[in-house]
Amino acid sequence: MSIAVSWLRAARNMVLPAKVYDFWCQEFGFISRRDQAMAKVVKVVQESSDSVSLWLKPNANFEGIQPGQHINIGVEVDGRRLNRSYSVSRVKGRRFRITARQVSQGKVSNYLNNHAKKGLVITLGDVYGEVSMAHFEEKPALFLAGGIGITPIISMLEAWSTSMRNHPVELMYWGKSEKDLAFIKRLKKIAKKNDWFRLHVIETEFIERNEDGTPKLIAESAQWFEDLKKRLPNVEAFACGNEGFVNQLRDRFQPWVNSFSFESFTPAFATASAGAPIQVNLTKQRRSVSIPSGMNILHGLEQAGVSIASGCRRGTCNTCTCKKVSGLVQDQQDKRVHAEDDAMFKPCMHAAISDITLEL
Ligand code: FES
Repeated sequence: MSIAVSWLRAARNMVLPAKVYDFWCQEFGFISRRDQAMAKVVKVVQESSDSVSLWLKPNANFEGIQPGQHINIGVEVDGRRLNRSYSVSRVKGRRFRITARQVSQGKVSNYLNNHAKKGLVITLGDVYGEVSMAHFEEKPALFLAGGIGITPIISMLEAWSTSMRNHPVELMYWGKSEKDLAFIKRLKKIAKKNDWFRLHVIETEFIERNEDGTPKLIAESAQWFEDLKKRLPNVEAFACGNEGFVNQLRDRFQPWVNSFSFESFTPAFATASAGAPIQVNLTKQRRSVSIPSGMNILHGLEQAGVSIASGCRRGTCNTCTCKKVSGLVQDQQDKRVHAEDDAMFKPCMHAAISDITLEL
């Protein structure tokens, strides 16, 4: 940015109140804001039959993102601003790419797949994530991706593909069929050009099933698995996919790898239906809404028309954290009941089992 433009912007910011400045920027489709990080979609790419990538150009308020990290984004869908969290799938300077897959109840992902176009303006929220590229940089790495769980992994592979990597990386990538696998062509290219990278694709359409109908993820890969143990005895493993996928792999890999880290998508309980109605009192909004007891509180509030800041919907980004003034809530993962008053909690990870009061 030239000095003249910076001066003009500074002068304009001093003259106009932030709200007025932001309003007019929004009216004209600019991403400049006084404080809020925003981005404009500069390119849309269809990655597979059901996933799309958006390249984003952020404004000056955005502090940057690293391969492997996630970001909360906000878009307007049917007149309501909705926030969701996505893994970054590539970083190029200040610009970055996110990839969204269509899912049955995925309001934002489906909106991005069906309506996102060049020029769409998106709100950028917190950047977070414990997977750091640095952790895998100086050691052999084993990546295990289920479907769109490939996104944090491809961002690291892309970064390494333009650097000198000395340690092997192996990727086992599961998907219904090859046409459903995002970035498959790019992954094959990286494998062809780089000795340090091996790719193993498993099409779940054709493999044996468990009793509950889920694919036996390791069944077809027994030989590969045995060879892998010999090739990479002290490997750092990272798995990303839905909850069932991660759990199946964790049981199999954790006993012999050096470390096993993972990230899973929104758990099934987040949208499960539930029982009799209870009241949720919202102190700041001075209103009370009814949601079914046992239902995920974030999901229930949204269904009742309450806007609540959220992102990952799986307890990792902290965006939804708020104070529970009173009432009983149950952690939907470990099933523990929390009764303490005036305690901070995450509505995306809890169900209400009595009337509750929240500082919202
Ligand atoms: S939405 Fe991320 S912690 Fe609740």
